[in-house]
Amino acid sequence: MQTAHLTIDPAFRVAPVRRRTFGAFVEHLGRCVYEGIYEPGHPRADDDGFRRDVLDLTRELGVTTVRYPGGNFVSGYRWEDGIGPKSRRPRRLDLAWHSTETNEVGVDEFMRWCRKAGVEPMMAVNLGTRGIAEALDLLEYCNHPSGTALSDLRVANGAKEPHDIRMWCLGNEMDGPWQTGHKTAREYGRLAAETGRAMRVLDRDLELVACGSSGSGMPTFGAWEATVLEETYDVVDYVSCHAYYEEKNGDLGSFLACSTDMEYFIRSVVATADHVGARLKSRKRIDISFDEWNIWYMSRFQAAEPPADWPVAPPLLEDHYHLADAVAFGGLLITLLRNSDRVTAASLAQLVNVIAPIMTEPGGRAWRQTTFHPFAQASRHAAGDVLRVEPVSPSYETAEYGEVPLLHAVATRSDAGVTVFAVNRSTDAPLSLEIDARALGRARITAATTLTDDDVYARNTADDPDRIAPRANPDVEHDPMRVLLPPVSWNVIHLA
Ligand code: AHR
Repeated sequence: MQTAHLTIDPAFRVAPVRRRTFGAFVEHLGRCVYEGIYEPGHPRADDDGFRRDVLDLTRELGVTTVRYPGGNFVSGYRWEDGIGPKSRRPRRLDLAWHSTETNEVGVDEFMRWCRKAGVEPMMAVNLGTRGIAEALDLLEYCNHPSGTALSDLRVANGAKEPHDIRMWCLGNEMDGPWQTGHKTAREYGRLAAETGRAMRVLDRDLELVACGSSGSGMPTFGAWEATVLEETYDVVDYVSCHAYYEEKNGDLGSFLACSTDMEYFIRSVVATADHVGARLKSRKRIDISFDEWNIWYMSRFQAAEPPADWPVAPPLLEDHYHLADAVAFGGLLITLLRNSDRVTAASLAQLVNVIAPIMTEPGGRAWRQTTFHPFAQASRHAAGDVLRVEPVSPSYETAEYGEVPLLHAVATRSDAGVTVFAVNRSTDAPLSLEIDARALGRARITAATTLTDDDVYARNTADDPDRIAPRANPDVEHDPMRVLLPPVSWNVIHLA
C-alpha cells in the first residue's frame, strides 16, 4: 500500500476562500436556457416559466455567480432583441451554434432568474460584431436608475430597480479564430480598453474582465495576455482563462492529472500580468477570472456534423459524465482553490444540459451528473481560509505531464473546523493518506466521504440518478490520522 502525507497548519494560509470561485455559466447554447433554466410548459415551471426543479438543484449546487449570455453566442448577440413584450421579439440566426434564437429569454428574465436562484450575475458584452456604443447602451439599461431613454425603458419593461450588475466581461474568447469578430491582441486590447473606460464613466464601481486565452495551448498564449494587458492594465480588474479537458486515446492516467495544465496556465498568466504591471510601474494587481472551465469531450463535438438547418435549442454539447470525469473535475476545483490568492473568480461552464452538472428531460425529470457532487461539496464546505497542505506523495508517470503526484489536495479552515479536499489519481490502487494536524491541537476526523465506484466509467442517468454520489468513507483511523482513498476517487475529510 502506498502512503501520502499532508500537513495542516493554520500558518500555511494562501488567501480567503473566494465565494466567486463557485460561479457557473448560462449561455444561449443548445438546451441550457430553453429546456434548461426556462421551460414554460413544464409541470414544475413557475409563473415566469422557470423550472423549479432546476432552480432547486442550482441552489443545492451552491452556485454563487452566473456568467451570461455567452460564450461564443455573445459575439453576435443584440441584447435589445431580448427585452420588451415577448410576442414582438425577433427570431435571429445564431452563427456561433448554427441555431435559431427566439429571444424569449433576455436580460430582464435572466435577472429575475438570478434573484430566484440567489446568484450574482456576471454579464458579457458583445465585442465581436458590436462595440462601445452597444456596451454602453446595455450598461445604461441595466444599471442606471431612471430618467434616461434606456433606463426608463427598463422600468417600463417591469424592472423598476436597476439590475446593478457589477461584473462585466469585455467580450468572449477574442483570441479564437472561431469567434465571430475575432481580433488580434492589439485590436482587441484597444477596443476592450476604450469600452471599459467608457463603461466606468457611466458606472464607476464595475469589475471588468479582459479576455485572456481560450486555452494554454493557443498559439498566441502568453503573447496575447501581454499585449491585451498592456492596453487594458489600468482599466480592468481581471484577465480571463478558459480551459477544457477530456480523456484522450484511453489515457486515463494523463486525464486524471489534467489539473497540472491548469496549474501551469494560472502560473503563466500571473507571471505575465505581473510582468506587464512591472513594466508599467503599476502597483495594481490583475487577478484571474477562470470564467470557463470543465471537462468537455470537445473532440466528439468537433467530429459531429454541424446541423444542416437552424434548429431552436437543439441538444448540443450534452456530455454524460462518468466517475473518472468527476475525479478529474475535482482535481481542477482543488487547483482553483489552491490558487485563491490570484484566481478570485471562476465559472464552471456550463450549468444545465450543455457540458453541465445538471441534466433535464424536456417536460420531465432533472438529475445530478457525477460532476455535480465535487462542486456542491466544495461550495458547501470550503470556508474561511484556504490552506496549503504541503503534500508529500508517491508519483506516477503520465504521457502528457511527465511525473505527477498521486495525491492532489487542498484544505480550508474556518471556525467550524478544517476540511480537506483530496483526489487519489491512481487508476488501480488505494492510497493511504496520513494527516499531520498537530498544529490544530486536539482535532479529530469527524467525517469523511468518498466519491468512487468499481467502474470508473459509471454514470448517473435519469433512471439511476444516484449511482455516483458521495458515501461515508469507512476506512478512517484516528491515531495517527489516516484515511484510505480508493483509486480514482474524490474525497472530503472534516477535522474539528
Ligand atoms: O462553453 C462552450 C463554449 O466554449 C463557449 O461558448 C466558448 O466561450 C468556449 O469556446
